[in-house]
Amino acid sequence: MTVRKIAGLVLCGILMGSGPAKASESASIFSSQTGPGENLAQLIARGAYVARTADCAACHVGADGAPYAGGYEIASPLGTIIATNISPSRTFGIGGWSEEVFARALRMGVTPHGNLYPAMPYPSYAGMSDEDVHALYIYLTHAVKPVERGPTVGTRLSFPFNLRTLMTGWNAVFSRQKPMAHAATAPGGIERGRYLVEVVGHCSSCHTPRNFAMAEDRSQFLGGAAVGGWFAPNITSDPISGIGGWSEDELVTYLRTGAVAGKSQAAGGMAEAIEHGLRHLADDDLRAIARYLKSVPPIREAGQREPAYGVAFAQPSNFEALNLGHDRSPAAMRDGASTQGEQIYVAACAACHQLHGEGTSDQFYPSLYANTATGGTSPRNLVMAIVKGVHRETNDGTVVMPAFGAELNDAQIAAVSNYVLSRFGNPHLSVSAAEVAGYRIGREEPLVVKLFGPAGVVAALGGLAAGLAGMSLARRRRGDGSDGAVAKMRIED
Ligand code: HEC
Ligand code: HEC
Ligand code: HEC
Repeated sequence: MTVRKIAGLVLCGILMGSGPAKASESASIFSSQTGPGENLAQLIARGAYVARTADCAACHVGADGAPYAGGYEIASPLGTIIATNISPSRTFGIGGWSEEVFARALRMGVTPHGNLYPAMPYPSYAGMSDEDVHALYIYLTHAVKPVERGPTVGTRLSFPFNLRTLMTGWNAVFSRQKPMAHAATAPGGIERGRYLVEVVGHCSSCHTPRNFAMAEDRSQFLGGAAVGGWFAPNITSDPISGIGGWSEDELVTYLRTGAVAGKSQAAGGMAEAIEHGLRHLADDDLRAIARYLKSVPPIREAGQREPAYGVAFAQPSNFEALNLGHDRSPAAMRDGASTQGEQIYVAACAACHQLHGEGTSDQFYPSLYANTATGGTSPRNLVMAIVKGVHRETNDGTVVMPAFGAELNDAQIAAVSNYVLSRFGNPHLSVSAAEVAGYRIGREEPLVVKLFGPAGVVAALGGLAAGLAGMSLARRRRGDGSDGAVAKMRIED
């Protein structure tokens, strides 16, 4: 039996008893016009704020920087997923969409032309309040310029993941959050923080590890996870493995600026989240996020004894005894001649981070000890900072560390990383050239693919989904399940 047939059968099972969506069911909550007493300018401002907090622009930006034009590539373990044009163009974007159709895409990942992959964080946005969805829709359709072209390349996933209908089963099992009504809770309060973290800010889409089927593992909520080649650290309240040892002020400073001296700097996806979203948020909202994070149940990494920023200054090396050669420029290293970590460090890093890793006195160039990128349980952020550099627009200017990915080969990056780890960071960590190569590509097959291969994925997901969809339909029939998304969904292949 072909995989497609298995998928087809599974889907039949899932869809039994389902019919086309009833437009009238939720139309009453959504109207594409502003309601009586609604001020358009205020709505647009609110929608723009939601869009910022939710990072819509970061992912949906065009290759040339055109807002909401689409084209940004997201490396997923299953292949490259391309964000679409969501400007109000009627041909290429969402210009022809009613608010109801928009809300369904945003919260359920279901569009008129098929299911979305969860690279679009709809499992988090599922919890977005009706008011915020409405404001977002009005903002996107009234205040954003239509872009009359689509991304030049589309999403390319290998079989069977190119079958979007598979996501129906996935959604039935894994995407079951309901809209929260927390949008308007007390400013600065924990509940507002919960809404910003869990829903709009979709922090868990990066910071929560994923299970065998690539869904967030809620039992490890915010417990730290690999994203691309980077590592989004544990941000639970645990004082050793998480942010429990950060003060509320430090968290607010990090979220606004991306840097806290003696602790951490933001690069990769976190730099983007700050640049496009968090740095523009109201103080109250950042404080709410900090308070909520400090209330998230702690998760401790087995065997970790001190926080990642807890590594103190080590004994300085005896540089005088080193034969450093005469040309210390990074370019001189490019030929792969040196895989001597200390030499590469002196050539490529010490100008800014200083010979003994202490950084500059103002910490504009930060110290490499007392730094979560070097003292934690993963070498990924150190390696990726070297490969990709750091680039972050802040409210006070641009922060840049040059990328060495083209200057240094994998063996050299491994060598300098191991030098930094052993001198300034967690000496129990090390990284191989092969691992550096893997982080560079930013892809790892999910466990389920490793174990069963693509056909196994279909069977495993399908089997699980069929079981759960059955349960969900049963609950619906009994009338105690308002999350009957599966039963209501229309599938177009
Ligand atoms: C982490 C990246 C990311 C963020 C953040 C993000 N999106 Fe998306 N979005 C995507 C990707 C990728 C797709 C295409 C997915 C696919 O092809 O299955 C998509 C698809 C969509 C679609 C479907 C468009 C179509 O034509 O099918 C809509 C609508 C959408 N996003 C709206 C939004 C809005 C509104 C926000 C902010 C609240 C947002 N997105 C935030 C990545 C993102
Ligand atoms: C696109 C992925 C992504 C999203 C979304 C994201 N983060 Fe992060 N976060 C990261 C990565 C990667 C790092 C590590 C950055 C580095 O050290 O260069 C990080 C680092 C952090 C840190 C510093 C932790 C440490 O130990 O150094 C905090 C705090 C944090 N994130 C909070 C948040 C919050 C709160 C949200 C939601 C509002 C969020 N993040 C959303 C990827 C993400
Ligand atoms: C031209 C100056 C410069 C050079 C050279 C440089 N860095 Fe950096 N580095 C920076 C700046 C600036 C930051 C970010 C500071 C901030 O975010 O506030 C940074 C941040 C870092 C971080 C933290 C990244 C994170 O994601 O948390 C690490 C680790 C790091 N550098 C290691 C290195 C290593 C190793 C080298 C040599 C291969 C190097 N740097 C070379 C300027 C430099």
